[in-house]
Amino acid sequence: MSKTLKVTLAGVEFDNPIMTASGCCGYGEELSDIFPLTRLGGLVTKSITLNPRLGHPPPRTAETASGMLNAIGLANVGVDAFIRDKIPFLAGRKTRIIVNVAGGSVDEYVEVCRRLNDVDGFDMIELNISCPNVDRGGIQFGSDPKLTEKVVREVKKVFSRPLIVKLSPSVTDITVIAGAAEAGGADVLSMINSVVGTAVDIHTRRPRLTNNKGGLTGPAIKPIALAMVAAVYEQCRLPIIGIGGIACWQDVVEFMLCGASAVQVGTALFVDPETPVKITRGLKEYLRTQKLNSLNDLVGKLEKY
Ligand code: FUM
Repeated sequence: MSKTLKVTLAGVEFDNPIMTASGCCGYGEELSDIFPLTRLGGLVTKSITLNPRLGHPPPRTAETASGMLNAIGLANVGVDAFIRDKIPFLAGRKTRIIVNVAGGSVDEYVEVCRRLNDVDGFDMIELNISCPNVDRGGIQFGSDPKLTEKVVREVKKVFSRPLIVKLSPSVTDITVIAGAAEAGGADVLSMINSVVGTAVDIHTRRPRLTNNKGGLTGPAIKPIALAMVAAVYEQCRLPIIGIGGIACWQDVVEFMLCGASAVQVGTALFVDPETPVKITRGLKEYLRTQKLNSLNDLVGKLEKY
């Protein structure tokens, strides 16, 4: 049997399990100048909202030890411009395209997903119920199980392709939120979004982000993400896309052993945009040396003490 990096999530086959995380390569145009997007398992767009958003004023990113803070504030072109100007480019790529959707209310999530449902050229929606950087919506949905279930259920009524729900780590028990997303009809979970944090400029005595706080990403959060993926894998039957500080193929193997079927690479793209290509190369070699036919053989195979 030949070795394969292919993975299938909710009936959708991906050539490999590596996707770019939302917010880390816009709508894909710039990344396609660096390598052919066919090398990716999938590309996840920046969050799309009903109306265009400028986001927070700069500075809206700050480097920290082993990580990065961001408070972009969901800057995006809005759903109509996305459909008109961005989908035609994405539709021509031979990789899986996932549109990340955010909203300030259930009605907004539903309306954006309804408009996207009428459009071809992408494969799935990732529902962002975990953005820590907006006053309305975002993490407010992802930290309340009732709201999580409601928004997922309402979106499922208007969107007929598979739905990924992106979870926040900034909750008391992420397995409860995962269960609520599953009850609402989610097809796949992605986790984790960023961890709420801040950093201070000691000379100006001001936060280093105009939003005063933001979301921490990068290697600093990988241990948190791994523990949460393992906990949700034990409690929930949905496939999981692992996110959180993934920078090399060894990180991907860790996530898969903890229960992830695929992963997203985010902050590492800012260090080396070719990270996904390097990771797939490493994974192929790992399959060969481990005498495995498929990465699926690793999922959830963590041997706990
Ligand atoms: O501020 C932002 O746009 C971040 C979004 C997110 O973390 O989901």
